[in-house]
Amino acid sequence: MKKRLVILTGAGMSAESGIATFRDSGGLWDKYPVEQVATPEAFRTNPELVLEFYNVRRRELLNTKPNAGHYCLAELEKDFDIDIITQNIDNLHEQAGSTRVIHLHGELMKSRSTGNELDVYEIDSKKPDIHIGDKCEKGFQLRPHIVWFGEMVPMMVEAEAIVRKADIFVIIGTSMNVYPAAGLLHDVKTNVPVYLIDPKDVSTNRYDIHHIKKGASEGVEELKKLIK
Ligand code: APR
Repeated sequence: MKKRLVILTGAGMSAESGIATFRDSGGLWDKYPVEQVATPEAFRTNPELVLEFYNVRRRELLNTKPNAGHYCLAELEKDFDIDIITQNIDNLHEQAGSTRVIHLHGELMKSRSTGNELDVYEIDSKKPDIHIGDKCEKGFQLRPHIVWFGEMVPMMVEAEAIVRKADIFVIIGTSMNVYPAAGLLHDVKTNVPVYLIDPKDVSTNRYDIHHIKKGASEGVEELKKLIK
């Protein structure tokens, strides 16, 4: 029986693929105040700006590749029963070959109906933009399939259940600033080892965390040696 390895990833996981993090200096939120581009209110008052913010990131993602950290996590599926719970909206874990990925904050390569949030659509990489006037088959305006600030995180229930069953819990590339995602650490059983891969210190409420103070690519290689 393979051990259950549960991995929570954030923007730092994709940093070595060239995607800006949110809160590192020069991060995404420095350029675009979150209130202007990542809230339902912003979409109501200035939909073109919000749609363009995600169109730019979607086009960027089409020229972005997984890094060695993504590939190493995918390879670990040979030795562990792995669930990846990511805050990232890119699809680099999937591109690298990970098969069980939960996107807590949505997915850049998907759109959804403003009429029914359950009507979700794959975005064709040949037509990556969403514009005002792009409608679903029921005639509702399409929006990015992203969880904006102030919106519910529908996958949290499933994520909590998975974290509770973990034999090993790993945090990679997240400042643990945003809830409820950061709260998943509370669902890890006290006897379960927790590893953190991040070049910086990250404040959490657990004091028994094994901190691998490296970037994702090097850090996952080191993690592999520690857990296999
Ligand atoms: N490898 C690993 N970690 C890295 C690397 C790297 N190469 N470079 C930076 N980091 C770390 C930073 O030290 C930081 O702790 O990645 C973390 C990035 O933190 P944030 O920029 O806050 O990103 P994240 O935690 O994913 O943000 C969570 O906030 O804005 C919302 O919805 C957005 O999903 C996002 C959420």
